[in-house]
Amino acid sequence: MGRAVRRMRGYLGELIHRKRGELGDDLISGLIRASDQGEQLSEDEAASMAFILLFAGFETTVNLIGNGMLALLRNPAELARLRDAVVAGDEALLGTAVEELLRYDGPVELATWRFASEPLTLGGARVERGDPVLVVLAAADRDPARFAAPDVLDLGRADNPHLGYGHGIHYCLGAPLARLEARTALATVLRRLPDVRLAVEPGELRWRGGLIMRGLRTLPVAFTPEGDGSSPRW
Ligand code: HEM
Repeated sequence: MGRAVRRMRGYLGELIHRKRGELGDDLISGLIRASDQGEQLSEDEAASMAFILLFAGFETTVNLIGNGMLALLRNPAELARLRDAVVAGDEALLGTAVEELLRYDGPVELATWRFASEPLTLGGARVERGDPVLVVLAAADRDPARFAAPDVLDLGRADNPHLGYGHGIHYCLGAPLARLEARTALATVLRRLPDVRLAVEPGELRWRGGLIMRGLRTLPVAFTPEGDGSSPRW
């Protein structure tokens, strides 16, 4: 992992260097412009920012779509409910569905490390100044004290203050983009692949290792192609 991170940082460093000579209308150029204005981002900080945007913005959304699709495939009544709504153009259910899929099996299981700036008691546990605190977002999102029937997937769940995007000052920067991507992907799959179904037994599914991110290695599905199947319409 260390080697891969260093290579990625090297790549982004070179990219930023190259872009510096030909600024355009893209995100990295925007970061460089910001760093050129004195006290804002240094080149190193711009590389770090590009890195986190890429990682935080890609892996997360991919896994929300994968985990969300799996949750739907394993809850056929909810899948049918969402497909009917999508076909009928009911955007409201799509909105609550994406939030529920985030709560039910979101891609980010843990928040990043926090360190107590002063002593406190949290959920009955004593935390001293400087102690690390790791919040398990996935557990909070199944908290029976907060959610009615927490282990049930209810795409229309109205009272759903989940922590899938974190909380407070570090609340996810990309939440609106992630919501849009998940809505678009799920609605498109349900519309275009009416009989999509799991192609393996759930027990055969393999999850990627890692502490923070929860996602599948692959999600094998079967479906009947439209028409004669020779020219899929995408
Ligand atoms: C389903 C998709 C996503 C999920 C579940 C998700 C989840 C989260 C969570 C839980 C945090 C807070 C971490 C903490 O407090 O320790 C966070 C922060 C962040 N996310 Fe996302 N994220 C998603 C998509 C995105 C996208 C698409 C982008 C960018 C395009 C993005 C960029 C960021 C950034 C930059 C932060 C750090 C914000 C800060 O520290 O102030 N995320 N995300």
